[in-house]
Amino acid sequence: MSTLNSTEVLRRTGGRSIKSIVFDEAAIAERVRALGAEITAAYPDGDLLVLGLLKGSFIFLGDLVRQIHRPLQVDFLVASSYGADMVSSGSVRLLYDPETRLEGKHIVLVEDIVDTGTTLKRLTEVLRARSPRSLAICSLLDKNLAPHPPEELRFVGFDAPPAFLVGYGLDHAEDFRHLPFIADLEAYHA
Ligand code: IMP
Ligand code: MG
Repeated sequence: MSTLNSTEVLRRTGGRSIKSIVFDEAAIAERVRALGAEITAAYPDGDLLVLGLLKGSFIFLGDLVRQIHRPLQVDFLVASSYGADMVSSGSVRLLYDPETRLEGKHIVLVEDIVDTGTTLKRLTEVLRARSPRSLAICSLLDKNLAPHPPEELRFVGFDAPPAFLVGYGLDHAEDFRHLPFIADLEAYHA
């Protein structure tokens, strides 16, 4: 971890301070390449649909699919978010449903971070009801705080510290998604 006062970072955040970089660009790129190889190997046959949970997965998904060396299709889901809060409200609503048929396909649901696991629990129920051939979750980060982690959680990028993380798709009140690294916001204490 490195301390962050550089003008380059402050320029990107509009002067708002960030405590530290937890995963830098090089570490993320290396891990995403390995995850892509894992997913490629895990699906030797069948139709593969990579389903991104918006908005948090948008950068991760873009990088990940380019590291999967087999045919696939991409679609998205939108679920309700925390809004400006840094804690989970426990309820999840589907705001956009994928248009692609899921029946008979291998589904890899791509998520930014598993915190309490509530979001994924709800979404996996919805997706299972559509009879996919298989259903797996690929999350960039896992805080390992979920009391009952979803059994579908098969691919994880990094174990995350119990901090509030932003960047590489993750936001706080819609800010910081564009940071090319994953950083710890100082304000939050787990
Ligand atoms: P869960 O339902 O409690 O597992 O929450 C998962 C969702 O909460 C993620 O998809 C994120 O959008 C959001 N979230 C959880 N922890 C963080 C964090 O540290 N930074 C940013 N978003 C987070
Ligand atoms: Mg969010």
